Amino acid sequence: MSEFKDRVVVITGAASGIGEACADVFRSAGATVIGWDLSGLNNCEPVDVSQWEAVHLAAGKVESQFGKLDVLVNCAGVITPNLPAQDVENDDYTKNFAVNVMGVVHTSKALYSLLCKSDSPAIVNIASQAALVSLPSQTAYSASKGAVTSLTRAMAIDWASVGIRVNAICPGFTATPMAMGQMTPELDAAVSRRVPLGRIFQPIEMAHTVEFLASPKASAVTGVVLPVDGGWTAGEPALPM
Ligand SMILES: NC(=O)c1ccc[n+]([C@@H]2O[C@H](COP(=O)([O-])OP(=O)(O)OC[C@H]3O[C@@H](n4cnc5c(N)ncnc54)[C@H](O)[C@@H]3O)[C@@H](O)[C@H]2O)c1
Repeated sequence: MSEFKDRVVVITGAASGIGEACADVFRSAGATVIGWDLSGLNNCEPVDVSQWEAVHLAAGKVESQFGKLDVLVNCAGVITPNLPAQDVENDDYTKNFAVNVMGVVHTSKALYSLLCKSDSPAIVNIASQAALVSLPSQTAYSASKGAVTSLTRAMAIDWASVGIRVNAICPGFTATPMAMGQMTPELDAAVSRRVPLGRIFQPIEMAHTVEFLASPKASAVTGVVLPVDGGWTAGEPALPM
């Protein structure tokens, strides 16, 4: 279990949910993990990824301590309240884009020169199934995650020449504080009926896919946006015919 021995990994949003699971998985695989989050839980350094200066400062610390970076996982994210498109506050668009999109831009730019010093650099962005299919009453979040998938492909092309692979996953409903904050027994049952695999997912299942995309096993994979959603975006579950 030392696939990531001597590898330095920065994970944003590592204090909770999918980011926390990613931190556990990379640590178990031998990596040195640096968590950046608003919260200091799970040994995270407090960094607000929506703020360029804070990210730039934190990147400088990675440079002085390690001199390189092998993997960046962009997991920090926010979601604003469910509202039909006509009622969404303009400010909700600003909030979603500040963290979900500009957070990815800030970390990727600030850490680019350190990733260039790795012999197998990789970025994995956490988008959402909301980037691929419409979720009702989530226009601002969906648009921000759509931007993350476009950024993923665009950065993959720009940085292929320096060997940085850039991929994204699109999680389906995953049992984290973000998703469970909105969960009711009725919603749980409805989601489970809608997902072809018939259930909500665990953060560790997302983390294992992230680990694969960041690993040498995925050395030929870049610019990919991978649904990890139990088949939600593949189609409707089979009908009882
Ligand atoms: N849980 C799901 O069902 C689901 C589905 C699709 C996509 N996602 C995405 O997965 C990612 C992780 O979400 P989660 O479900 O684990 O949620 P979560 O709320 O458990 O974790 C998100 C973490 O991001 C941190 N964060 C928020 N704003 C930040 C900022 N400005 N700077 C630094 N850290 C910040 C939070 O403090 C928190 O620790 C998010 O990008 C989310 O959009 C989640």
